[in-house]
Amino acid sequence: MSEKDQVGFENLLNEIRTFPPKPEFTKDAVVKDRSIYERAASDPVAYWETEARELDWFEPWTRTLEWDPPHVKWFDGGKINVAYNCLDRHLAGPRRNKAAIIWEAENGRRRTYTYGQLDREVRQFGNCLKGLGVGKGDRVAIYMPMLPEAAIAMLACARIGAIHSVVFGGFSPDSLADRINDARCRVLITADGGWRRGQVIALKHNADRALEKCPSIEHVVIVNNIPGEHQLLHFMEGRDHWYHRLMDHQSADCPAEPMDAEDPLYILYTSGTTGQPKGIVHTTGGYAVGAYSTTKYVFDLKESDIFWCTADVGWVTGHSYIVYGPLMNGATVLMYEGAPNYPDKDRFWEMVENHHVTVFYTAPTAIRAFMKWGDEYPAKHDLSSLRLLGSVGEPINPEAWMWYHEHIGAKRCPIVDTWWQTETGSIMISALPGVSTLKPGFAGEPLPGVLATILDEAGNEIKTGSGLLAITHPWPSMLRTIWGDDQRYVDIYFSKWDKKTYFPGDGAKRDENGNIMILGRVDDVLNVSGHRIGTMEVESALVDHPAVAEAAVVGRKHDLKGQAIVAFVTLKANQRMSSALLDELKAHVVEKIGALARPEEILFSGDLPKTRSGKIMRRLLRDIAEGRALGDVTTLADPNVVEALREDYEERYGG
Ligand code: WTA
Repeated sequence: MSEKDQVGFENLLNEIRTFPPKPEFTKDAVVKDRSIYERAASDPVAYWETEARELDWFEPWTRTLEWDPPHVKWFDGGKINVAYNCLDRHLAGPRRNKAAIIWEAENGRRRTYTYGQLDREVRQFGNCLKGLGVGKGDRVAIYMPMLPEAAIAMLACARIGAIHSVVFGGFSPDSLADRINDARCRVLITADGGWRRGQVIALKHNADRALEKCPSIEHVVIVNNIPGEHQLLHFMEGRDHWYHRLMDHQSADCPAEPMDAEDPLYILYTSGTTGQPKGIVHTTGGYAVGAYSTTKYVFDLKESDIFWCTADVGWVTGHSYIVYGPLMNGATVLMYEGAPNYPDKDRFWEMVENHHVTVFYTAPTAIRAFMKWGDEYPAKHDLSSLRLLGSVGEPINPEAWMWYHEHIGAKRCPIVDTWWQTETGSIMISALPGVSTLKPGFAGEPLPGVLATILDEAGNEIKTGSGLLAITHPWPSMLRTIWGDDQRYVDIYFSKWDKKTYFPGDGAKRDENGNIMILGRVDDVLNVSGHRIGTMEVESALVDHPAVAEAAVVGRKHDLKGQAIVAFVTLKANQRMSSALLDELKAHVVEKIGALARPEEILFSGDLPKTRSGKIMRRLLRDIAEGRALGDVTTLADPNVVEALREDYEERYGG
């Protein structure tokens, strides 16, 4: 940010209004006063222990926290099953016949599962998996559209003690294969296809391409989601099985496996600063406590709520706030398969109206798109059922916050801006809607039991002002390791300051009231439309193309997506730049990673700016991509490179 921008930004911040909790909300809120903060601060471990007691344990734990920095164990010795906590424990009372999942597809198709029905289906599918040889500790990949069966598959794994690894359906066959191979998954659960803007996404076809490179997969289970497509499927006898055939006459007698609290529940891959995604490992007991407790407090859940989190189950938000958190709380979740603008741009508001959604949780990228589409779309619908709104995945700019507040929340609903990560498992920094004063652009205070602060590079605490976000005490739902690479866990997260302090990779700023504003990633990870993408991953995909010698990828501010991907590419000596090649390179990245990583802009360059020791100077590339005055170029090996690049860039993209 230039100095002028910085001053403008500070002024804007000072002008931001704040929104104290409304008494009519607080009156019925789950958290009505601030005593919970004091209780948690006086003894965070005891606080989490109290939360844990609200779940059903087969056997109690012997030690709440065992901390051997940077490794932790929570609730060690305890036996628990997360699927049991999501399902069985609700069946004895009136929740048995309450809707657990209400699902709707883009074309209006609907299905509802009560807790009783969902429980039965999960048990049956658990037995299907057992029948395919899946046992405790085995890894199962899930590559699915937003179907109830995605949740059923996750819960069935949890029930029998298998470790699921959900891969977002938008990832390419290569990305799917990498993730399957890293965890050596034995079974893949997928669908024949998914729906997006009236088109079929050929998931099984992608899966087949991935599986050419996945020797560990023994069986594939396919959910039939596309009518009449059966004959188009490549069906490998013995390996491939239709979900509905396996389920036919399947027994529902499938006891929940008593898991050790520290047994892994799932692996979820996320981007980091190297080319290889990291398999974040979450365990059973601690994760369950974090997801359960934060859902209850942050979303202020009531028995009568209809909770709609618009994330995909392929991301951590879908894990914690579509499946595990809400179901452990006995809530009704809405699940939607499709795009927000199909058949028209009011699709979401139509859903809110039709299903009487009370709590709505989405990403700033979506909010900015709604703003751009126009106020008339939400205005067409009765949104009066809404009582609480949430935001996640990227910083929400105050303008988007205000629009959300006025046009969706009718100035009535509090907004919780929730900061967390795949690694944290559950929300870490957020308002509690009954007691917090909201400040647009600020996520707020750390939740009770979370010790988050801001440090400088040297590890000194910054009381007010900006620095690096840090978490100084373990929390139950934290990642335990990176699958197959514990050293990487230590290096990435616990080597910035000391072995006790977790470094999330975000910059942050704190105001005098202790509210934290997240400033975005400080590492080589981009956040494009709320999706984490490592610059190295995109670079690896580019240099994989035969014409490319070298590539450097940076992020540029983007009005809608938050950040856009800009790639600087040097071609091999015998290659010529052309617009056809440019399109080909973009397509190559999509092919290697998935559409979410498609570069917005590619610039061919004779050379890339490097330090004398040969390191690419991304900072300079970022300056070029964002049209800023160039910073320090004195360490450059060849300062002319930068000028030439900038001229090219301005010519092509208007600076
Ligand atoms: C960013 C998504 C600002 C942040 C749950 C973090 C946010 C990364 C917010 C994690 C927020 C998430 N305000 N930034 N409320 N929430 N982020 O693993 O940079 O997909 O490190 O988890 O998203 O992304 P992930």
